[in-house]
Amino acid sequence: MNSYIEQHKNRFLTELIEWLRIPSVSADSKYKDDIRRAANFAKTQLETAGADFVELCETAGNPIVYAEKIIDFKLPTVLVYGHYDVQPADPINLWNSPPFEPIIQKTALHPDGAIFARGACDDKGQVYMHIKALEVMLQTDSLPCNLKIMIEGEEEVGSKNLESFVTAHKDKLKADVILISDTSIIGNDTPSLEVGLRGLSYVELEVTGPNRDLHSGVYGGGVDNPINVLCQMITSLKDANGHITIPNFYDNVIELTAEQRAELNQAPFDLEAYKKDLGIDDVFGEAGYTTIERTGIRPTLDVNGIWGGYIGEGAKTVLPSKAFAKISMRLVPNQIPDEITELFQKHFESIAPKTVKVQVRPHHGGHPAVTPTDSTAFKAASKAFEEAWGKKPVPTRGGGSIPIVALFEKELGLKTVLMGFGLDSDAIHSPNEHYGVFNYLKGIETIGLFYKHYAEMSK
Ligand code: BES
Ligand code: MN
Ligand code: MN
Repeated sequence: MNSYIEQHKNRFLTELIEWLRIPSVSADSKYKDDIRRAANFAKTQLETAGADFVELCETAGNPIVYAEKIIDFKLPTVLVYGHYDVQPADPINLWNSPPFEPIIQKTALHPDGAIFARGACDDKGQVYMHIKALEVMLQTDSLPCNLKIMIEGEEEVGSKNLESFVTAHKDKLKADVILISDTSIIGNDTPSLEVGLRGLSYVELEVTGPNRDLHSGVYGGGVDNPINVLCQMITSLKDANGHITIPNFYDNVIELTAEQRAELNQAPFDLEAYKKDLGIDDVFGEAGYTTIERTGIRPTLDVNGIWGGYIGEGAKTVLPSKAFAKISMRLVPNQIPDEITELFQKHFESIAPKTVKVQVRPHHGGHPAVTPTDSTAFKAASKAFEEAWGKKPVPTRGGGSIPIVALFEKELGLKTVLMGFGLDSDAIHSPNEHYGVFNYLKGIETIGLFYKHYAEMSK
């Protein structure tokens, strides 16, 4: 397997780079054709890799690429999930090279080079490892289990059409375990396996004051300013200790035991390196919790965007009529996204002063998830990492969200293994996203070893 990867690594890279050239941005409808091109590219590559059945499944939104390689019905079946859609590249001017013209460059953490492009790590690069792992296993006659591969095109916008697809195709998606590469490891010298993901509640706020923009001299001081109000309201959502002040927000949060917390904090974490990487002098978060806990097992609330009034060149004296913000709340077990959204809405409306009207518009959400560490699949993944990376992977709780994980459990009764290979510093969703060449090739090897150990240990 390894010699096949070594022999074909240049082609593996060129193919991925070709895929990354297609700007499959799901948030912006002007990329509709590119979305379809990216889906078709994956379909063709899966066929070439040797899948015996590949199709584009139409949905009310972007198509889902689905492929199968059935070796023997008596063997276990792994359902691989990933996404070919990517985040918008903006702000484009902060990229050192164009986001859809991939280049390979060395970095301190990626001395073998990293591919710089939107989607390089999240998630096209990680999905493409699976397509190549399939090729490698088939070409070296070593695929020991059945594979089903589902690659969707709406993950970054909330997977709106996935639930109905999964519900309608329970038979087709029948498998023994889900495998997802869309998370990160601690470092290339510290492999890890995520065993939990946070959920999400996302709302958009609109605060309206006077019925039109006003002269800030003529009316200023006499009429409340919706931007000021919005800022004050948002500020009040967290107290000085970083606790969220929305009543009942924490009601369903599962507190970890002292032992569980101690174990979690055993994961290697260098606070100084963390601050240095981000260019900050200090971290912030809920009092009484470490950074690992704040980003893994605690819920949080953040403004993702805020706007209103005049933001063009120069100074325009205006007291704006409206102010807007987008807020995300990351959730942990057992918080329920719809319930949290409702709590937010009720609270936000209740704290609004009489001088303005507020509107809370819910966006997509997602359930948090924890994945088992005592399952055959997890043990096989652990063994695969140990063999490929020379170290036992550390279990970690990830801060990001992959809502499909909870959905798979609810609809298909299947548990997930989160075998991601990115680094947190790979800048996903940010300018200059990249993915290590080492991670890409090592990932292909690790996925192959997972199949081997999973099939063996399932006997
Ligand atoms: N791959 C990420 C999630 C992720 C990143 C998990 C790093 C763990 C570590 C995924 O593509 C993503 O960005 N998800 C969204 C949620 C979705 C509902 C838009 C997120 O977490 O913001
Ligand atoms: Mn992703
Ligand atoms: Mn993402």
